[in-house]
Formats: sequence, C-alpha cells, structure tokens
Amino acid sequence: MKAIKKAVFPVAGMGTRFLPATKANPKEMLPIVDKPLIQYAAEEAVAAGIETLIFITGRNKRSIPDHFDKAYELERELELAEKHEMLDLVRNILPPHVDCVYIRQPEALGLGHAVLCAKPVVGDEPFAVILADDLIDAGEQPCLSQMVEVYNRHHCSVLGVERVPMAEVSRYGVIDGQRLESNLLQIKAMVEKPTLDQAPSDLAVVGRYILSPAVFQKLELTGRDAGNEIQLTDAIVKLLKKEQVLAYEFEGKRFDCGSKLGYLQATVEYALKHPQLKRRFRAYLQDLQIPSLD
Ligand code: G1P
Repeated sequence: MKAIKKAVFPVAGMGTRFLPATKANPKEMLPIVDKPLIQYAAEEAVAAGIETLIFITGRNKRSIPDHFDKAYELERELELAEKHEMLDLVRNILPPHVDCVYIRQPEALGLGHAVLCAKPVVGDEPFAVILADDLIDAGEQPCLSQMVEVYNRHHCSVLGVERVPMAEVSRYGVIDGQRLESNLLQIKAMVEKPTLDQAPSDLAVVGRYILSPAVFQKLELTGRDAGNEIQLTDAIVKLLKKEQVLAYEFEGKRFDCGSKLGYLQATVEYALKHPQLKRRFRAYLQDLQIPSLD
C-alpha cells in the first residue's frame, strides 16, 4: 500500500466572486486574520504527512510561488532590524523537507482538468486534493489527517463530505451512499451541482479528496460539460464503478471562504482564537452596537 505523500492544490480559478479584490491577486492569497488561505491548506497537508505540494496555477498567480519561496530582501531587512520573531514567521512557512512544484494550467477547463494537469508529477500513487477556499477548523486532528487515517484502513479513494441545507445542494457535488460506519459511507452515486429534486441526499463533497491514481485515466475519458469544464465529479463517478470510493463525514467546522459570508465568518472565528488578538477582538465585538436594518 502506498502512503499519501503528494497533494494537489488547484489554484487557477478566477475568483470572480471576490472581484475587485481578486482582479490582480489570487483568491487563495486572501488572508484569514494574518495567513493566506493557501497557507492554511499547505499546513493541513504537511500535518497529514504530505511531502510534495503540487500547485496548479494560472494567470495572476505569481504571488503564490512567491509566498512559499525565500524572500531575500525581506529576510535581510528583518535580520538587520533584529526582528527575530518575524524572521521566523517568513522563513518557516513550510518545513525544509517539503517540496513545492508549480504546474501551469493553460486554460481554465475546470477542476477535473486541473487535477489531470498534476498527473506527470503524481504518477502512479494515491494523492490528496485540497481546495483552499474550503477552510476547515478541526482542532486537534486536521481534516486531511483524519482522511489519511481512513485511507490507511481501507486503501481506497476517500472524499470529505458534510451535511448541507437542502437549499444549498446545487452548489456542490452530492453523493448517494451506503453507510458502513457512523461517519463513513460507500459511495454509490454522485451528482455535480444537482437541482433540489435531482439531489440524492444532503451530503455534499467539500474540498478534500484522497484519490486513487486510476482517476487520471477516468479524467482522460471525461468530456467537457455544458460549461466547457471537465468535472472531477464525472471522473469519480466512472471510478466508483471499478473501485471502492468512500465518503467520510469529517469532524470540524468548514468555512466556505469562496463566498463573502463564509469568508467573514472564518475571519471572525479565527480572530476570536488568535493568541494576540482574541481578548481585544472579543471585547470589541461585545461592545459593538449593531445597528438595526430598517
Ligand atoms: C467543486 C466541486 C464540487 C465540490 C466543491 C467543494 O465545486 O466540483 O463537487 O462540492 O468544489 O467546494 P466548485 O466549488 O469549484 O464549483
């Protein structure tokens, strides 16, 4: 059985829901308090034992490689000013044993196409996919670590899922499954962004996947949908006819930071936990006079 050592981060999206903030900056670089979303995602991967981070990038994404790269001038300035804590912060974004690989996705052809772009680097190994705009606060054991444990027991693809209100199912890939354990299902079917009456359940796939390398062959056989995109969901539907694919209801709270409301909720909750901010921010919120809407 091969261990999960590589994670793919599709970061080529346009981030249109956050315009104009994302006109020249990638949405994955938006900060929650003081760390960009992509750094939370990278840290979750590293905590789960990942050693190679594969970023699938597009136009306007140069700040992502810059963020994970050495910043000579900044480090020199901080050194001269003897700002040792800040120097540590910028130097130790990732531990030294972790490698970053950047692959350019030439055209925005959807999540499935982005994952397929990682094939030459992933090769014939199971791998993780993390969508950085799904930020998951899971406390002790991060979401991907929980999923790696499931993978280590079952040796097959595992998708992170959570219950969502029925009114929101059309924003997600939605699964139909047979329950194996209290928080684990075997997926029988999966529909991408169903209407309310097509939705097989209220269990939505969130941005965490562990995938068997057989998914690459399925992606190669998957055509573009009506929106000219190759859907990862369509390839997983093909995969589950051949291999077991599990849905895992993770422990933790997910924030949809691809939406403005989810982004604000994450900001408030992470600020309330931030060691240097939590007291003053809590006091600020308690004193805040929220004006009525009318
Ligand atoms: C993608 C997937 C969808 C999944 C979602 C999770 O959709 O296609 O199946 O439920 O991520 O965030 P997107 O949000 O990129 O439209």
